[in-house]
Amino acid sequence: MISRETIDRVFETARVEEVIGEFVQLKKSGSNFKGLSPFSEERTPSFMVSPVKQIWKDFSTGKGGNVVSFLMEQEHYTYPEAIRYLAKKYNIEIDELEQTDEQKQQADERESMFLVSEYARDYFHKNLFEDGQGKAIGLSYFKERGYTEETIKKFQLGYSLNEWEAFTSEALNKGYNLKYLESTGLSIVKNDGGRAKQFDRFKGRVMFPIHSMSGRVLGFGGRILITDKKAAKYLNSPDSDIYHKSNVLYGIHYAKQTIAREDNCYLVEGYTDVISLHQSGIENVVASSGTALTENQIRLINRLTSNITILFDGDAAGIRASIRGIDLILEQGMNVRVLMFPDGDDPDSYSKKVSKEELKNYLENNSQDFINFKVSLLMEEAQNDPVKKAGLIRDIVVSISKIPDRIQREVYIQECSRIMDISENVLFNELAQIDNKTKREASKNNRGKTAGRSNQNNLAADPNEPPMNVLYPEMVQVQKTAQDEKPNNLRKYELEIIKILLLYGNKEVEFEDFIEEGEEQGNGLQVMKKEYFQNVISKEIYLNLQEDEVEFTDEIFKQIYYEIISQLNQSENISVDILVNNPDSKISSLVTNILMDDEKYVLSDWQAKDIEVKTKENEGELSKMVLDAIYNLRRVLIEDKIYSLIKDIEEENNRESILESIMNYNTLKQRLSERLNRVV
Ligand code: CTP
Ligand code: MN
Repeated sequence: MISRETIDRVFETARVEEVIGEFVQLKKSGSNFKGLSPFSEERTPSFMVSPVKQIWKDFSTGKGGNVVSFLMEQEHYTYPEAIRYLAKKYNIEIDELEQTDEQKQQADERESMFLVSEYARDYFHKNLFEDGQGKAIGLSYFKERGYTEETIKKFQLGYSLNEWEAFTSEALNKGYNLKYLESTGLSIVKNDGGRAKQFDRFKGRVMFPIHSMSGRVLGFGGRILITDKKAAKYLNSPDSDIYHKSNVLYGIHYAKQTIAREDNCYLVEGYTDVISLHQSGIENVVASSGTALTENQIRLINRLTSNITILFDGDAAGIRASIRGIDLILEQGMNVRVLMFPDGDDPDSYSKKVSKEELKNYLENNSQDFINFKVSLLMEEAQNDPVKKAGLIRDIVVSISKIPDRIQREVYIQECSRIMDISENVLFNELAQIDNKTKREASKNNRGKTAGRSNQNNLAADPNEPPMNVLYPEMVQVQKTAQDEKPNNLRKYELEIIKILLLYGNKEVEFEDFIEEGEEQGNGLQVMKKEYFQNVISKEIYLNLQEDEVEFTDEIFKQIYYEIISQLNQSENISVDILVNNPDSKISSLVTNILMDDEKYVLSDWQAKDIEVKTKENEGELSKMVLDAIYNLRRVLIEDKIYSLIKDIEEENNRESILESIMNYNTLKQRLSERLNRVV
């Protein structure tokens, strides 16, 4: 885990305009910079960067945040990856924290394995262009396949010489440790009569490096070039501490931005399909490399989009085998479409037959919804066989039962009923039965093991990084609690108070208050006297809320509020930096949005149409706004309290004291309402 000090130093050093400037062309605009949004296709710039506040806001998509959240959006880095990227850019040494010696050693070993793999990638790649055999065999093979030099370089393709230990000896010469050559699977070590002998695993193959989401080399695929019935056509790195086949998608590093932008991911079978589609201009494509898609691979895609289109070659047997695995994708709430290529073609071969335009059109116009596809495919098979048809219905409804969204399920049931000519009732009944069975099984399983399969939070965004809840337990905490939202106005007024604290908390203004004076009147109300006093806005809010022991119900607001209060206690001043740079992206993005909305007033120079004065700067307005917010919040809290007391009365015996409480609260509420009306 990266130490707090390192993170702080990164934030102190990194300049949001410099970092974003590497991805977006920024132009000065008043005290800010503006540019075209990298997250949408826009013509007029609505992407703003504030060097003063060190935040950015994309008005076209509503996204915004600090320098780290930009990298997380743009490059799809995890939080630690973004920090590491910035540390590297600004030459900040990373201080690793809370690691036992064992963990440290493990991290070092993984790092050594990455370094060996990256060395191998460069070595194999160089062979293609600088070695006689590499050029004659490797490079010409790729060229024959139709890959341009640009493509070969982009995917860092390579060639492993057809010699027993060309690579291994070269790597050992360069000082790489045999231990890591073996643990990455690049070399095979054999015991030959007491003497260790080593070989190159990928001897005589063209090489496809496999990257993590952030672009590190995890392993390789190697394709044989001679026809040898005994040898596998493709050989992959064995699973290791850095390469877990079931957590990796080939091409994800090159595809991530386009997947997010197009909001769709094409899934193909292998390396050659990914590369050919890229060369034909389709970049949102990844491959599961032979195996059926695993849950972790689906989650990797789900970080970028919830839409997935599976590309099948025209071979029907293959399709039937793979549609079973698709239920797993539905289970994760993703929308699945499928697309078939004409008989005998796979994405690789098809993309070579047609023009870029034709390919694009084909992909856009020939996909169909998975459930519909499955229905028509199986219907064809069942034809007039009623027994088969019954099995088929069940099969389809099982798929539908995997979809978490109720409305979507219903739509599918309706469609299936139409296509299969079966009443909706029958299908709904079947669905209910399957649901019940699943529930029973789930509860049976849960009794056995408490952890169940709810390991969603355990999965690191990058399967090769430690899980998020190990690195930042507090993040997982927040995600869990933030979901239960209060339906009433409470949240609105809580937000109002947070906004005021962030935008105007440090300002001192004159407040107006009413002091109780003289005898109580017959109606239970007292004569009030107007008073004026000066106070800093944040303190006034704090005092008021503390007096009533108000707790924020929204978990994010609560955290922001506590941070502000602890700052007030320490320095008497609110500094928004700590909130903007908070590792919890929910906090930092909320705070950024609040701050940037304020920018709209300041930024009138770039939005010439709404030249608005910062009316809220007006003292009287400000103090009214503050008191209104406080009183409104208190009023809603009191209403809640009264409501719950009324419910108590219905159930409990102690009616009298409860009634008295209600009356007291009602009086309080009335007073607050009066104040709300009077503070003008
Ligand atoms: N593949 C694999 N292992 C195999 C066969 C195929 O991982 N034993 C994957 C590869 O990633 C390959 C994709 O499936 O890119 C397509 O398979 P195939 O067409 O057989 O491979 P090609 O290299 O295209 O071979 P050919 O030139 O014969 O089409
Ligand atoms: Mn092929």
